[in-house]
Amino acid sequence: MNGDMHELVDAEHGLISRRIFIEPEIYQEELRNIFARCWLFLCHDSQIPLPGDFFTTYMGEDPVLVVRDNGGRVHALLNICRHRGNRLCRADNGNAASFTCAYHGWTYRNDGRLTGVPYLKEAYHNAFDRDRWGLVPVAQLDQYKGLWFATFDPKAPPLCDYLGEMAWYLDAFFDRREGGIELIGGMHKWVMPCNWLSPGKGHCVIGVGPDMLADPPASEILAYEDAIRPEMEARLGPRLNRIKPIVGTVFPNFSLLRPTSRTFRVWHPRGPDKTEVWAWVYADKQAPPEVKEAIRLAGVRVFGPSGSFEQDDMDNWQGCTQTGRGVVARSYPLNYQMGLGHDRFDPALGAWASEYRYSENNHRHFYRRWAELITGAPWAELANGGTREDRHA
Ligand code: FES
Repeated sequence: MNGDMHELVDAEHGLISRRIFIEPEIYQEELRNIFARCWLFLCHDSQIPLPGDFFTTYMGEDPVLVVRDNGGRVHALLNICRHRGNRLCRADNGNAASFTCAYHGWTYRNDGRLTGVPYLKEAYHNAFDRDRWGLVPVAQLDQYKGLWFATFDPKAPPLCDYLGEMAWYLDAFFDRREGGIELIGGMHKWVMPCNWLSPGKGHCVIGVGPDMLADPPASEILAYEDAIRPEMEARLGPRLNRIKPIVGTVFPNFSLLRPTSRTFRVWHPRGPDKTEVWAWVYADKQAPPEVKEAIRLAGVRVFGPSGSFEQDDMDNWQGCTQTGRGVVARSYPLNYQMGLGHDRFDPALGAWASEYRYSENNHRHFYRRWAELITGAPWAELANGGTREDRHA
């Protein structure tokens, strides 16, 4: 890659090069050093509850098959036939005991083992070792409160270390009540002509004061939120009296959103100027049906692909990416200086916090971490080892 990282990301001064949003070489480094190293969200446990259930997704641009085998164990495997590399499973989700490649019929069990090779005896003369040609597993697979994550990097820190304090903020979205959450309806997928970095923030949260309104403006939802407050406080502890998390991102591409609707989403990179969004609406599993319905409607109206907020955001994000095609435009850095020097580590929050409600501190932390990872430096040499509070220490 041309130029040193300091030229691309100068987080200390809040200056970011536009090159990182548009240049194909940098995008390839992102796939290699960020998406093939970080823990990435795969799916929610409720999407694969039974033996044989599967869900197909991506880690970066690598297709991945998440499947619960007949014994109940979850696997995450490259969704690629080991013969000549065809995409193995074409369905979005379903239930299967085995997967057969459409090209020449190699067949894999739902634990990834290769069990069927046509003409094994005649054409391979019984000299082919099927045990060596099973589906390729991810390096590490783990779940947190029903959220399955995986990494291709065997040296990545364990998921709990990777999440650090972010785990509590995930609880504030997904573990507010006994039983956790459930997904409502299906999945929205859409492609945006912008870089995946444009909308993202990193391992960070936007929160408001505990008494500020941050819920969909539907009477059923507001009454429900009031009613469950004591239960939430008992589960989440005193930090809930300091902050109400409303938006968050687990670095690099898993985001959560609470006000106006209840959604979480993955930003799948599809090239330097294309991002595919997969989004789900969710609710507390114990919420009554009328609340779930109100949340579903709020999700469709606001942050679905045709939602009023989402369309507005998408239009601006693609503008930010596409103007970077110009070589002159690219020579001018972007300004992320809002609130520069006005954040501090707050032990009660377990995170860096801004002095004022509006700032670009989250963005600077995100790009600083991006710059650390994209060099390919070992995890142990990163300034924060994966969590921002370590930097403070
Ligand atoms: Fe899958 Fe040949 S590519 S069987």
